[in-house]
Amino acid sequence: MSLLTIKDLTVVIDNQAQTPIVKNVSLRVEAGEIVGLVGASGSGKTTTGYSVLGLLDPALAVRAGEIIFKGKNLLRCQEDYLRKVRGGQISMIFQEPLNAFNPVFSIGYQIDEMLQFHSDMNSEQRHKRTLELLDLVGLPEPQRVVKNYPHQLSGGMRQRAMIAQAIAANPALIIADEPTSSLDVTLQARIIELFQKIRKELGLSFLLITHDLGMVGHLCDRTAVMCQGEIVETGETTKIIDEPQHEYTKRLLGALKV
Ligand SMILES: Nc1ncnc2c1ncn2[C@@H]1O[C@H](COP(=O)(O)OP(=O)(O)O)[C@@H](O)[C@H]1O
Ligand SMILES: [Mg+2]
Repeated sequence: MSLLTIKDLTVVIDNQAQTPIVKNVSLRVEAGEIVGLVGASGSGKTTTGYSVLGLLDPALAVRAGEIIFKGKNLLRCQEDYLRKVRGGQISMIFQEPLNAFNPVFSIGYQIDEMLQFHSDMNSEQRHKRTLELLDLVGLPEPQRVVKNYPHQLSGGMRQRAMIAQAIAANPALIIADEPTSSLDVTLQARIIELFQKIRKELGLSFLLITHDLGMVGHLCDRTAVMCQGEIVETGETTKIIDEPQHEYTKRLLGALKV
């Protein structure tokens, strides 16, 4: 059984009869796998990702489909169950970590909060774990970073801190939505290395949402290509990049080579 299976997901703008913004999307992520969801801006990638965690904008609604995670259909689960899944089993990493952190609390406090909610560690254990996590994601001087506020870190450091928070409670899956789009090319490469390290050392799975086929090529085992709400092509990443079948994929690749 796959870790995550999205089956025929259809998302509509509530109360509107017009074309769905996500149409019959099917996708699976196996344990330990990194799967890419790639497509141009507006193709429905974020909507697909948010559907998994029940984080859709209230203006949007899932009209059909199933999202099976560890054997349970998340679309039928109660909010209090989903709250435990979020962060505890599936974490999300966003493009702009400033939005993900609360500006008035230190980084350490916010990672600690995550551990309080999702583990039964005491405060000493949580502090130790927080420092380990900051070290694991490659932040220098964890003792200092733990006391820093989000705005005191550089963009690259903040992204690492958000990754530390995302993996804090030992989730099985990370959904990363354009995780490096706000970073320069050098920092993007570092974050890709960090994802590879996390997968190798912790056995985590990733659903990587991006418009960047280059990133997918570096990181993903399999890739699904999304265009106007639909998955138009899916397969081994090397195959998609070497022998794209769909016109749209060829165009995405063309844009990459320019
Ligand atoms: N809250 C919303 N209300 C109306 N339309 C939306 C809303 N959220 C997203 N959309 C539309 O759905 C489409 C897909 O959006 P999105 O999932 O964000 O795409 P992507 O992440 O691939 O850029 C876009 O055309 C977008 O304008
Ligand atoms: Mg998006």
